[in-house]
Amino acid sequence: MCGITGFTGKGTALPVLMQGLEKLEYRGYDSAGVTLADDQGLRTFKAKGRLSELRSIVENRELHQHTGIGHTRWATHGVPNNLNAHPHTNSTNTISLVHNGIIENYVSLKQMLENNGYVFQSETDSEAVVHLIDYYYRRFQDMETAFKRAVRDLEGSYGLCVISTYAPDTVFVARKESPMILGISDEGTYCASDAPALLEYTRKLMTLNDGDIAVLKPEHIALFDAKGNEKKEEWMEFPYDLQSAQKGGYDTFMEKEIHEQPQTIRETMRGRIEGKSIVLPELDPILGRILRADHVLWIACGTAYHACVYGQMVLNRLVPINSAAIPASEFRYGNYYVDKNTLCIFVSQSGETADTLAAIKRAKSSGAATIAVANVLGSSLTRIADATVYTCAGLEIAVASTKAYTAQLTLIYLLAQKLAEIMGYSTREHDEIITYLNELDRLTQETIDIAKPVIREYASMLKNEHDVYFIGRQLDYVSAMEGALKLKEISYIHADAYYAGELKHGPIALIQDQTVVIAFATQPEVASKTISNIKETVARGAKIILITDQNTPAEGFTYVIRIPEIRPDLACIISAVIFQFLAYYAASERGCDIDKPRNLAKSVTVE
Ligand code: F6R
Repeated sequence: MCGITGFTGKGTALPVLMQGLEKLEYRGYDSAGVTLADDQGLRTFKAKGRLSELRSIVENRELHQHTGIGHTRWATHGVPNNLNAHPHTNSTNTISLVHNGIIENYVSLKQMLENNGYVFQSETDSEAVVHLIDYYYRRFQDMETAFKRAVRDLEGSYGLCVISTYAPDTVFVARKESPMILGISDEGTYCASDAPALLEYTRKLMTLNDGDIAVLKPEHIALFDAKGNEKKEEWMEFPYDLQSAQKGGYDTFMEKEIHEQPQTIRETMRGRIEGKSIVLPELDPILGRILRADHVLWIACGTAYHACVYGQMVLNRLVPINSAAIPASEFRYGNYYVDKNTLCIFVSQSGETADTLAAIKRAKSSGAATIAVANVLGSSLTRIADATVYTCAGLEIAVASTKAYTAQLTLIYLLAQKLAEIMGYSTREHDEIITYLNELDRLTQETIDIAKPVIREYASMLKNEHDVYFIGRQLDYVSAMEGALKLKEISYIHADAYYAGELKHGPIALIQDQTVVIAFATQPEVASKTISNIKETVARGAKIILITDQNTPAEGFTYVIRIPEIRPDLACIISAVIFQFLAYYAASERGCDIDKPRNLAKSVTVE
């Protein structure tokens, strides 16, 4: 969601902040701002809209300060405008703050502060925090003490960065349930809500732990836990370079990331198949609890939830125990039975999605064993889970998930096989499974090569559509759901997914002459049934794009893509590239901002 950057050091802060914010643009925002500090005072600049608006305000000014904070805001409390844009400053313009997250007790804080004479300028929850720090500064006359004291009063989620004329070479940082990365180089110290903002300057990074506070000085960072005890920094060398955060010759990050999938699938498999065995030593600490599990829940949001439905279906075929997929936003409040014999698997690219984090906390408090399937190293989800298996999709920048999704499907498939093995259920198809897994990257590349020459033409059929329907049975329904999500989020064409067998129970009423139906029939057991359902839509005038296997008869269909020969339970993985391209080219023909779709954010860190 919102992006944060902060810097203090030898160099000039403004370019570091602006370039950092540019690298965070993919997270989604609707206004932006920076504050720069020196002993002369604070200078704040804000603009509604794109970063280019802010850039036009700051360029050609003499701004050589060495300390500053920056922000891109995605509106939650208050409309996007200059007043609500961050940074927020106190009335004497001596303290400035940027905030990600939601301060849940801001109404009572605001009340208390107004009773003490504070006047609010904006509609945001964040402004309460800057006045609160001012309130404590007046009492303690020390910025560090005031910042730490104010943080203690906050309820909700926050990534906070504060600068002040009272300590003009310092950036004060705190986080709770909102991501925050710290960095260090010979030039200075940095903070940001996501690593790409810092990669141009340093790869020596660390994640600020939940509840911790950091005090950034030009040459070092002091860390404190929630109780105020000083902690040791634990730096790590970030595994991705700046290259990963650049488009590398493609027009968009999404296009680049779709093409990267053979490689990211290979990376996700790396070291996890030895001979004929699937190896996931990450599960060792909870083997006993897996063995005891009498039901398995797969929990996540959005695309990651679709990966969970895949996990549920694959596991249900392997072990005779109940397995269900539940959206995290429902699970966190719902009446789903969870106890110490429940195994809960949480899937998340970012590892920072607010609903998924709340869901894992609920599962743990009910005694469940928890596994995280995450992409971002050291993310909050991985710190909470009993065991973590990482997808190795690398940095995913486009808001619409592509390579993270196929990496999730790949790892979930391995995980389901491993869980079945641990639980004592073996399959006679084991050797064939290993053979196809070893071929998965090549088969994904082959699917890209098959799909690309025709998919532009198919996508142009969608250009002027208002409603498109995706259908499939069993595992093909996972592709239908994810295909519909991809199309709607980046092209803004309304798309829905239905089980093909459910059509005649209602949705077929929507089919008219020339309605586009995108059908998946890659599961031999039910392919003929799906083809019958498709024909029912053709009889009502539907135009069909059919994605099917090598053997399903498809006479009479004009727009057909046949995926390479593969085990049906792996077909979802390779067919994903087809609907990703379809959505991509449809969005591109409609002139959409593909990497930054409207109203969406890469990492949804608020509820
Ligand atoms: C859609 C998309 C979102 C995310 C969802 C969960 O393309 O990317 O639906 O899948 O917001 O995000 P993570 O996986 O970071 O928990």
